[in-house]
Amino acid sequence: MTEYVLGIDLGTSAVKVSAVTKSGEIIAQGSMDFPLQQPKPGYAEQDPEDWVSATTLVIVRLILANQLKPKEIKGISYSGQMHGMVLLDKNNQVLRPAILWNDTRSTKQREEIMAKMGNRFIEITHNQPLEGFTLPKLLWVKENEPAIFVKAKTMLLPKDYLRFRMTGNIAIDYSDATGTVMLDVEKQQWSQEILDTFELPTSICPPLVQSIDNTGNINNCYAEYSGLSTETKTFGGAADNACGAVGAGIDSPTKVLSSIGTSGVILKYEQNKETNYNGVLQYEDHAIPDAFYSMGVTLAAGFSLSWFKKTFANDEDFTSVVESASNSNVGANGLLFAPYIVGERAPYADADIRGSFIGIDGIQQRHDFVRAVLEGIIFSFRDLMDEFEANGDQFDTVISIGGGAKSALWQQIQANIFNTKVVSLKNEQGPGLGAAMLATVGLGWFENISECTKVFVHFKDVFLPNQENVKKYQKLHEIYKKIYPNTKEITHELVNYRREYDEQ
Ligand code: XUL
Repeated sequence: MTEYVLGIDLGTSAVKVSAVTKSGEIIAQGSMDFPLQQPKPGYAEQDPEDWVSATTLVIVRLILANQLKPKEIKGISYSGQMHGMVLLDKNNQVLRPAILWNDTRSTKQREEIMAKMGNRFIEITHNQPLEGFTLPKLLWVKENEPAIFVKAKTMLLPKDYLRFRMTGNIAIDYSDATGTVMLDVEKQQWSQEILDTFELPTSICPPLVQSIDNTGNINNCYAEYSGLSTETKTFGGAADNACGAVGAGIDSPTKVLSSIGTSGVILKYEQNKETNYNGVLQYEDHAIPDAFYSMGVTLAAGFSLSWFKKTFANDEDFTSVVESASNSNVGANGLLFAPYIVGERAPYADADIRGSFIGIDGIQQRHDFVRAVLEGIIFSFRDLMDEFEANGDQFDTVISIGGGAKSALWQQIQANIFNTKVVSLKNEQGPGLGAAMLATVGLGWFENISECTKVFVHFKDVFLPNQENVKKYQKLHEIYKKIYPNTKEITHELVNYRREYDEQ
């Protein structure tokens, strides 16, 4: 009898379900999109019911189209879009649409948190209270929708709500709990000090579980709805970045993840719960028990490139636009690009900074601009790595996933700017594979995540730094670092000008 697990990747635009065997082979996969509501500028909401319906439909289709036998699905685990808030009443009914990680309505609450707690907040959570995170959203509901807030008995994150609907059990794993910025990272408990300061009931926080912990079997009601078996076990699961890291083999402190999607992520495995980047980088519990990860997000990584292509090369093929950068040279003939085109999260948490091309020269051609965009995104990643190095951390391998792993040229640029070996993955699957890996360890198929990684994750291409170009990029990065402080005031003024004159 074949046995397998399901990894459910609940993203922001779609859910993807993968059926994976003990040897890491993906035997079936399906996905379905769901809508995002943006009722006002800066708002991003979803109906939690859409997550449940879409996931169920994908599971039903997987079972029917692939002749999967429900009893052979031994375990299920979850990867979830981070920070989103689902509020439930005393009967566990959803009180309002979920407010998502990319919703920025809570600037006032963010400022209130800092005004009330200042550095103490960062000491407890190892994070700043950014608008994207859960606590400012909860305080926004408390201030703006008091009638809903008084009814709120439980706060859940997206994947935890989905699991609740499949099992009837309420829980949150530690990686998503750190993303709420309500967890005391050193005590590994909900922070009573934060809850008391903002007059929040402790009971609103769900019980904490490890990502590999058993969170109960599929219940009768969901089994009937989906065709799954009540013998199938579920496991804690983790935040999408934690699952992405597990699926990419980030299981030791020498490995760093470089991921280019719409936004970009530089993520490092951390061993020590005392490490604190003072909120410049995010600090989260990993899906691996007793491990952590630090992470910086470049808001417009892939988005900078797709913006450039759409604006200046709309009719051309994406790959050939990227490859045209090989006609340029290191430093794009004197052109630098800073990718702050939708503001930035790290290392500068600044919603009003904007991007720039610096050094435009009459000799440059479009391929120089493409090159500058590719390099600028990686310079912003280098800024994040500088934070690791300032903390005394050493790493020897960067695992490249997403857009950056699709071009040999871009991977070589990464190796040269990072001055570190860059590798790609043989079978890049994203966070869903990480979620499936958590279920295999939870089921006891592997002793721990590292044992599973040896079977599931394999490296493909290797790019080594070219020392001559490393030196050039070091010099260029020194110049690049001056762009933020020198353009901050000008771009803020432009953003304010637009608020006054263009956005009426
Ligand atoms: C991380 C973050 C995003 C979401 C996307 O802090 O906000 O990467 O996890 O789902």
